[in-house]
Amino acid sequence: MSRRSLIVVGVGIRAGVDTTPEARELIRGADKVLHVVGDPLAAAWIEGLNPTAESLATMYIGGATREEIYAAMVDKIMVCVRRTRQLCVAFYGHPGVFCYVAHEAMRLARLENVIVRMVPAISAVDWLFADLGVDPGAQGCQSYEATTFLLCGCRFDPYAALLLWQIGAIGDPGWPCSANSQCLELLTEYLKPHYGPHHEVVIYEAAWDPVSDPSITRLPLAELPQAHTTLGSTLFVPPRGPLRIDPQVIKKLDQKVLALLTSRSLK
Ligand SMILES: C[S@@+](CC[C@H](N)C(=O)[O-])C[C@H]1O[C@@H](n2cnc3c(N)ncnc32)[C@H](O)[C@@H]1O
Repeated sequence: MSRRSLIVVGVGIRAGVDTTPEARELIRGADKVLHVVGDPLAAAWIEGLNPTAESLATMYIGGATREEIYAAMVDKIMVCVRRTRQLCVAFYGHPGVFCYVAHEAMRLARLENVIVRMVPAISAVDWLFADLGVDPGAQGCQSYEATTFLLCGCRFDPYAALLLWQIGAIGDPGWPCSANSQCLELLTEYLKPHYGPHHEVVIYEAAWDPVSDPSITRLPLAELPQAHTTLGSTLFVPPRGPLRIDPQVIKKLDQKVLALLTSRSLK
């Protein structure tokens, strides 16, 4: 018997429209499909491609922690991997971006000598770059899970862009979840010395279908604790100002090299 395989794909944020032809064909051709997607239309689209498709989103049971729910999803994937020649698991967005279930299932499947592959997809961050006109290469871009960022007091550079994922669930490990107001306040206090209270931040949610607009709320940092967030919200904090050249490096550089670098690279 040929080796079993686990193929993990993403369907993008707008299932069907964002989905690559390769991911679509992998869903269509699999012996069994499992999926975790945000909305019923996306689920129906996957189920139309492959009648074996089964939703793991039914495992989001009120009262459980998200950690417990994710562990149950991984268990279910592993049960199916052992029974299926080619299992395809589809996630919304990019399957490797803030997706514990995908990474953990792949790790465990590798231990069982299963062929494992992940196919990339359009993530919420790709839409954010497009909708907000942000180039992550311009000044750098830092990306953290919001609760982890707060709890660990992550050190960051305010002159690079900052993305905080799961801002709408900050401080809430349960299900269903919402932003904990005390944690939003603490986060704001943590950020304020670096940016000042008036620095504009953006609560962003990409459109889930081609006929809707993204939700883009710009507000001063000081107003973040009162802001409305959802489970699909990502916080974008733009750099506090332009990058500055390090005088210590300048001292060490040959004058010709310096002239070339300052005329070209900081644009
Ligand atoms: C568990 S992560 C999954 C991310 C997904 N794998 C991706 O590639 O976009 C969930 C977080 O992704 C972000 N997210 C998901 N959908 C989004 C959307 N439509 N717009 C903006 N951010 C979104 C939010 O920060 C949300 O809390």
